[in-house]
Amino acid sequence: MMRFKDKVVIITGATSGIGEACAFAFGMEGAKITITGRNSEKLENSVKRLENEGVSVLGILADAASEADNKKLAEETVKHFGRIDVLINNAGISMRALFENLDLEVFHKVMDTNFWGTVYATKYCLPEILKNKGSIVGVSSINGYRGTPARTAYTASKYAMNGFFESLRTEVMKRGVHVLVASPGFTASNIRNNALTADGTPQGESPREEAKMMSSEEVAKEILKAILKRKRDLVLTGQGKLAVFLNKWIPGIMDGIVYNHMAKEKDSPFK
Ligand SMILES: NC(=O)c1ccc[n+]([C@@H]2O[C@H](COP(=O)([O-])OP(=O)(O)OC[C@H]3O[C@@H](n4cnc5c(N)ncnc54)[C@H](OP(=O)(O)O)[C@@H]3O)[C@@H](O)[C@H]2O)c1
Repeated sequence: MMRFKDKVVIITGATSGIGEACAFAFGMEGAKITITGRNSEKLENSVKRLENEGVSVLGILADAASEADNKKLAEETVKHFGRIDVLINNAGISMRALFENLDLEVFHKVMDTNFWGTVYATKYCLPEILKNKGSIVGVSSINGYRGTPARTAYTASKYAMNGFFESLRTEVMKRGVHVLVASPGFTASNIRNNALTADGTPQGESPREEAKMMSSEEVAKEILKAILKRKRDLVLTGQGKLAVFLNKWIPGIMDGIVYNHMAKEKDSPFK
């Protein structure tokens, strides 16, 4: 099926994991795709892999945390493909450290990428998306509903995204624009290898069993379906859905459950 034929889809942070899987999923449905990332080699590789599958793709080296790069992203996409229909704000980084030890520069970096990156890209793509009555997607997280210890900056960035999009969705509700907050649960990707430690160095290794998680391809499929149905929220994995439900009704009990669960992670910074 070519359910996105002639649609132009921007996916930020699409050289790995969920973003790259989205690029394939939308590309195989006929969409023209713009992808971004900070690493030129990874970007070129992803562009090549997509082109090999017959996908029409534009790769833009862009840092989500840079306002100028996001402006360029919107401008170059319109110049190249002529329009923007869907923006998937996916670029993101995580962190793992106790707040008391966390260098505030790391906090800024996570907010700049996950939250400000989303604000900038949305700001510069919105005129086109309003014109085309398209979709804006925020790839949030279960951490946008429920905080976990040693993830203060990450959790704050995802709650901020959720608040931003709830407000924006309501603001544009009579103008045909669709706003989706997609919240994956634990998904196999590179996010935990690249997560920043207290001093900003990547932790290198995932502290969880990636093989047991939902795949990035499955997440991409769910995001694609949710856009077609113009859903407002997508919460993924059974565990993720349960966490959101329980946190709404028994948040105090959830504090203890979440503490105990996260303390069991390999090399957890708290016991
Ligand atoms: N995996 C999970 O368990 C999970 C769960 C819930 C939500 N999420 C969310 O899903 C999104 C994608 O994460 P993922 O799991 O697919 O992680 P990933 O495999 O680490 O991929 C992240 C992608 O974003 C890019 N990126 C990182 N920082 C960037 C920046 N400043 N500017 C532009 N691109 C940047 C990376 O490329 P470069 O490093 O080359 O820039 C990479 O292509 C994130 O927003 C994450 O918070 C993930």
